[in-house]
Amino acid sequence: MCGIVGYIGGKKAAPILLDGLKKLEYRGYDSAGIAVRDGEKKPTIIKAEGKLQVLSEKTADGESVKGTCGIGHTRWATHGEPSKINAHPHHTDDDSVVGVHNGIIENYKELREKLLRHDYKFYSETDTEVAIKLIDYYYKKYDMGPIDALAKTMVRIRGSYALVVMFADYPGEIFVARKESPMILGLGEGENFIASDVPAILKYTRKVQYIGNLEMGRVTAEGVTFFDLNGDEIEKPVSTIEWDAEAAEKGGYEHFMMKEIHEQPKVVEDTIRSFITGEEGAYKVNFTESGLTEEDIKKCSGVHIVACGSAYHVGVSTQYVFEDLARIPVRVELASEFRYRKPILGKDDLVIIISQSGETADSLAALRESKEQGVKTLAIVNVVGSSIAREADFVCYTLAGPEIAVATTKAYSTQLIVGYLLAIQFARVLDKLDDEQVNNYIDDLLTIPGKIQKVIDDKERLQWFAAKYANAKDVFFIGRGIDYAICLEGSLKMKEISYVHSEAYAAGELKHGTISLIEDGVLVIGVATQSALYEKTISNMVEVKSRGAYLMGLTSYGSYDLEDTANFTVYVPKVDEHFATSVAIIPLQLLGYYLAVARGLDVDKPRNLAKSVTVE
Ligand code: M6R
Repeated sequence: MCGIVGYIGGKKAAPILLDGLKKLEYRGYDSAGIAVRDGEKKPTIIKAEGKLQVLSEKTADGESVKGTCGIGHTRWATHGEPSKINAHPHHTDDDSVVGVHNGIIENYKELREKLLRHDYKFYSETDTEVAIKLIDYYYKKYDMGPIDALAKTMVRIRGSYALVVMFADYPGEIFVARKESPMILGLGEGENFIASDVPAILKYTRKVQYIGNLEMGRVTAEGVTFFDLNGDEIEKPVSTIEWDAEAAEKGGYEHFMMKEIHEQPKVVEDTIRSFITGEEGAYKVNFTESGLTEEDIKKCSGVHIVACGSAYHVGVSTQYVFEDLARIPVRVELASEFRYRKPILGKDDLVIIISQSGETADSLAALRESKEQGVKTLAIVNVVGSSIAREADFVCYTLAGPEIAVATTKAYSTQLIVGYLLAIQFARVLDKLDDEQVNNYIDDLLTIPGKIQKVIDDKERLQWFAAKYANAKDVFFIGRGIDYAICLEGSLKMKEISYVHSEAYAAGELKHGTISLIEDGVLVIGVATQSALYEKTISNMVEVKSRGAYLMGLTSYGSYDLEDTANFTVYVPKVDEHFATSVAIIPLQLLGYYLAVARGLDVDKPRNLAKSVTVE
């Protein structure tokens, strides 16, 4: 979604703003703009529709814009079409207030009417322009300072926002306000930064302060002062981001997605090791850092896993593993459904929210709904300090590092690991596994990084296959049990970056309607890693083949008879079947990637998609 960058200090602001916005390109956007102040002078506002490159060219990479204080924005259209006029920053007619905004102002129509009655005029269709003019209205009408005007605006607007604002009367200062949309403050030496996401400022500083919900801040080159809604000053700790700047660079790969696919062996191993203790032969699972105790597990009566997109698919895989190992009821739900269906939660249930960004609006709302019902929440999150991480009762961090490609790969893989380990821990505490069995499962988990590497090393075959199917129109993924969960994610990987229509079906469901879509040449990918379901899935594959489908089979080494049915077979190393998703997903990630490349598409930034979906 939209990206925000702000800078105040001794250097030229525009190149830093453009550089920061570039780091946020992965979030998805359709236009961009900057506003820079040169001392007392009015801000220079430059905007452009389309890629950031256009804005860079207009400003000689920012070098032609004077000033050491500024704000920048990449916009992902919500209110009003993508256009230069709707791009941020927005400003008042006299430029007394200029600002950028992420989020959605829900009551902007009513506020616009009010401002029209007070002789304000509007040049754009955006809710942001309304917010900026409302701040100006309070600032002037009540002759207030910036913090009071912001507070009054915050009380009046409904919705979510990260607002970054400059006032003409306050040249060396930038003001920020936040409710629900992410924003962090980066602290430098004689300079400070504002960003909606960590990669924008990693190159300059790793010291940050987090602004909370319904809080404001005044940023100068010397420091940041935080305020609550009453205008009273509040203290904030300084945190250090552990990610290094190189982690957010392509490092010689053509696309971030390919780099992130290659990072999976390492981040999966790091994540496993962060939740285990002990030596070989006596490994134990350890969730102490998350805050989850054995007592919490003992009194848990059921688990609800709630998430969106790929994180939801992790939930589907985890459900099978959890129920099988721990014999406790697990329900998986899409956060966008959960939040509005008045879920019935038992008082001793545990709600697990899975989210890479920790900022997904629906997942955050689901977490809040659960907390309102008094139910304990556990978050599996990648971004430290994100809203979901801060609000959950227990937090398990995945160690994927910054994930830039819109299509998730390494974050998904690390989320799976935390899901497995939670299942193992529940099973042990609930006396369904003894120490030796736990140790054996961990031994098996520790083989996964090497097995993922092996699949990656074999990637050329998939590249060849993808080139052959570059013109595919419809693809179906079929599987049963955990293989169905693998299909869900494989299908999403394909459609989101290669724009090939694909669907995942529980293989047993085909005959209930979908099989009518199978005709000559349609590609069907059958996933068969689960021995108990293997023959049943093969039967379903035979059914579609006899109706003209071209079959790709995906199974583990050893199941060579699949070749009797499939036209093209991909093998992955064997792993305990509970953990098959971790290995079998890799060829499907590669297939999605190579298909998108073969079709000449923008792999890292697929159309219409955003990395972090912070609005409903
Ligand atoms: O940040 P989150 O994990 O909450 O994001 C959830 C989904 O938006 C995300 O997994 C999305 O489906 C991916 N881009 C798919 O690759």
